[in-house]
Amino acid sequence: MTSERRILVGNGLTKYYGNKKALDGVDIAICRGETVGIFGPNGSGKSTLARILSGITDPDSGAIRIFGQKNKVLLRKNVLLIYQSTLFDHSDRVWDALVFWAKIHGIRDYKYRIEEALRRLELHDKKRSRISQLSTGQQKKVELAKLFIRDDASIVILDEPFANLDVASASIVKERMRELVNEEKSLVIISHCLDDIMEFANRVLLLSNGRKIREYTIDELQREIRKSSTTWLLELTLRRLSIKEVKSLEEIEDVEKVDVSIDRLVSGILERLGLSGGSAKVIQLGASEANEFLEKIKADNVSVLSLSKEEIQLDVKIYLASLNPLSSILKKIFEKGGEVKYINIRPKETLIFEKLLGRGE
Ligand SMILES: Nc1ncnc2c1ncn2[C@@H]1O[C@H](COP(=O)(O)OP(=O)(O)OP(=O)(O)O)[C@@H](O)[C@H]1O
Ligand SMILES: [Mg+2]
Repeated sequence: MTSERRILVGNGLTKYYGNKKALDGVDIAICRGETVGIFGPNGSGKSTLARILSGITDPDSGAIRIFGQKNKVLLRKNVLLIYQSTLFDHSDRVWDALVFWAKIHGIRDYKYRIEEALRRLELHDKKRSRISQLSTGQQKKVELAKLFIRDDASIVILDEPFANLDVASASIVKERMRELVNEEKSLVIISHCLDDIMEFANRVLLLSNGRKIREYTIDELQREIRKSSTTWLLELTLRRLSIKEVKSLEEIEDVEKVDVSIDRLVSGILERLGLSGGSAKVIQLGASEANEFLEKIKADNVSVLSLSKEEIQLDVKIYLASLNPLSSILKKIFEKGGEVKYINIRPKETLIFEKLLGRGE
């Protein structure tokens, strides 16, 4: 990415709402003619970032440069934001709201453009309706009409453009997005649907808790997904087995990893020591930290005289490269005298999402 191609650059973008840090030091650069995806779970800061990048909201710290300049007028002139939920006054009629908006943006042939937008979005028969009288999907289409009316912006940011749209309407919007790409516009597409992003984006930013976790090129992302797509997560709660016995399930072919969470084990120990009430807390530790914890108890001169594996419940996550080992896993658990209290296989999509966000690893 050469610096002269970067038309919009945000550095260290941070935004608080009261005490809540909605955005935490995010760096982003948008080049001419490229499409950047922003992906993240609810509340991760995507819409906040969109408002800041389009000059609607000021960051508390960090800077935005458009064509190398810190200039809010230039920023707002060059960035078109399609809001997640429209900000049009719901008591306005569709036609009047769009005319008002188009005039603010100095569009001369606005009548023709609005007619054309409503025709393409199949909203023509609603032009005299009040926005409040429209369905959620139709209200979204009024917001999306902006895509067809204003074509002077170099960058178009679309916040959840397909949310609440039926498939046919989404394809009309996608067709318009492709036109914009052909016109060398830069697009930023925000979504929690990775498929929609990947249909357009050259790069994808992952946001979680207001922070940029990672940035992927589309090739890297596809590789990551191919890698994850054969992975399954088997969740089990087991009794009557030691951590060592559970860990030995890793020897089964196609079992990639076995994670034993020892919080229940810890709570068992604390209870045994009469510490479960009072100030003792049940803490969450990964399997690798178990020994350290037990060492610490020793160092504190507390001896665990006996703790029978009969009393212990273990929460186990087993990552599988395929579903083949399922029966071998259960067979081995029963052979060792284990008891299965809970079993769940999670869909791979969830896992991809969690993997990309660095959770569930
Ligand atoms: N106007 C506001 N006042 C107070 N808190 C806000 C405001 N706007 C956003 N937040 C908080 O900032 C965080 C980020 O919100 P944001 O809307 O940017 O998330 P998002 O990633 O767009 O989520 P979603 O996928 O649900 O649209 C959330 O915790 C939210 O509660
Ligand atoms: Mg949002």
